Order: sequence, then C-alpha cells, then structure tokens
Amino acid sequence: MSAAVALSTEELTVLEEVVLLLRERRGVDLQGYRVATLVRRVRNRMIAANVASLDLYLRRLREDPAEPDALLERLTIKVSRFYRGAPAFEAVREALAARRAATGRRVAVWSAGCGLGEEPYSLAMLLGSLQPPEDAPDVTATDIDPAALAAAARATYGAAVLEELPVALRDRHLVAAGADRWQVEPALRRRVRLERHDLATAAAPPGAFDLVACRNTLIYFQPALQQRVLQLLTAGLLPGGLLWLGEAEWLSGPVAERFRVVDRRARLFALEPGSRDPGAVEGASCASA
Ligand SMILES: C[S@@+](CC[C@H](N)C(=O)[O-])C[C@H]1O[C@@H](n2cnc3c(N)ncnc32)[C@H](O)[C@@H]1O
Repeated sequence: MSAAVALSTEELTVLEEVVLLLRERRGVDLQGYRVATLVRRVRNRMIAANVASLDLYLRRLREDPAEPDALLERLTIKVSRFYRGAPAFEAVREALAARRAATGRRVAVWSAGCGLGEEPYSLAMLLGSLQPPEDAPDVTATDIDPAALAAAARATYGAAVLEELPVALRDRHLVAAGADRWQVEPALRRRVRLERHDLATAAAPPGAFDLVACRNTLIYFQPALQQRVLQLLTAGLLPGGLLWLGEAEWLSGPVAERFRVVDRRARLFALEPGSRDPGAVEGASCASA
C-alpha cells in the first residue's frame, strides 16, 4: 500500500494492519482502495468511537468483535438516491428500449455496488416500463457489504432519498410505511435479486447483461483495481451491452477503446460488438470526470 497522502511510516503500517484484519475477519480486501479515502474514513470512525490514536484504534478493532463491522460500514459509504441523476435514467431507458426492440428479447441488468437498494429498485421501475415482470428477476444487485444487502431486502426508505424520483413512480411502486417512511412494494422487490459480491476479488455473477450499472463505486479504487474491475464488468456484458458509470467517473485507457460513448452526460457507454478482450488492459482505468 503506498500513500499519496501525508502519513508517517507508523501510520501507514497501522493502516496496513487494519486492512489485513478486515480481510481475515470479514473476507473483505480493501488493498486496492484509495489510501486517502481509507484514512479519512478510519479517522471518521475513530472520532465516532472516541478513540484518540491509530494504535489504540487497532487494539479496539482486534478486541471488540463488533468493531470490524462498524468500520466496514464507514469504509463502504452507501449514500444514494432513487433515480440518482434522473436525466441519465431517461438516457438509459431509451438505450435499453432500443436494445430490446433490436434483439426482440427481454433485457437483463446488473447493478454492481448497489448500496442500500435505491439504484436496483430504480432500475426495476425503469424495466417495468419496458417489459412485464416474469418469475425470474431481471435486475441482479450486488454489494460487498452484507448489512447493505439486508437493508436493501427490507426496502424501507426515508423521504430524503426519494426526492429525485418522479412522483408517479413513487406512487406506483412504494407504499407509506410510517412517518416519512416508504417501502418498495413486493412486486417490484421480486424483480431484484440481491447477492453478496466483491468486485475486487470475484468473477462476474452468472448471467449475461444488457446493462451493467457501476456508479459511484470505482472512484474509491486505485487505478490498478479500477482496471481489474472494469475488465470484470465488461466480461459480464453481452455484445453491444451498456456500461453506466457515475457522474464523476469516465472511462480511460485501453478498455475505453472497446466502448463507444452513447451519452456523454449520462456516462453511458456501449461495448463495441466486435471488440475483443485484450487480456491485460494495462493502464485502463476509470478517470475522474
Ligand atoms: C456510494 S455507493 C453507490 C450506490 C449506487 N451505485 C449509487 O450510485 O447511488 C458505493 C457502494 O459500493 C460498494 N462497494 C465498495 N467496495 C465494493 C466492492 N469491492 N465490491 C462490491 N461493492 C463495493 C459499497 O458497499 C457501497 O454500497
């Protein structure tokens, strides 16, 4: 692990131990994450846990069985919203509609780094306007954090994350669940399959996808890990399939050559049908836009 942030050798060593401990105890490998992000979030957790030094925090992490989960919760920030970046959803809807018309079959979607479920349920709403529900889910939603997936399964949200969601969609797919709380209705929940999946270490989930949404997740990774993850996401796509990144993200490096830009503002790309995996996509990365 190398640091572009100002850290003493001791601090860096402690941080490496924190990363090792999370790998051993939780099977989560944060080795390729941006050091600045890790440091900011560990410090953030130290303040919340009222611990004054990194050394003391490491001891707490070793001794308190609840602490690894508390830290993991901080390290994998899950801020999201339904229809986050609403105009981009329209661009995605149009591209998927065109694909469905061209292929004459149902389309399948993977939401990678799905957080608390706002994104996959939004995608399920979008698919609802394109194809009727079937027994099998048409959205696969994956995340590294089991607590996030459990929250996504409960599918209950505060009003703040619904602000970008068109009211007609809210009224169709969510029901009131207490003061300022809303729950996604069961029919929409059935369209989404939730699975634990670590983008840093696992192969793409089974299935070939017409759209892979990986938004606001790659930005936390160092370029080398971004390269690997972009290869993995691309491997999950059908020929001509769509890759959707977050608004602060952009494709660069050799992997970018395998895609054409469908909608620049939406950060939507299509895999060139004849494109071949160069094997090692040296230097491919997701640049900050
Ligand atoms: C900021 S949220 C993005 C949520 C949603 N995609 C969006 O754009 O609103 C980032 C998500 O990436 C997940 N994540 C971080 N590292 C991951 C990894 N290695 N594999 C899978 N998910 C990961 C976090 O747990 C978190 O839920």
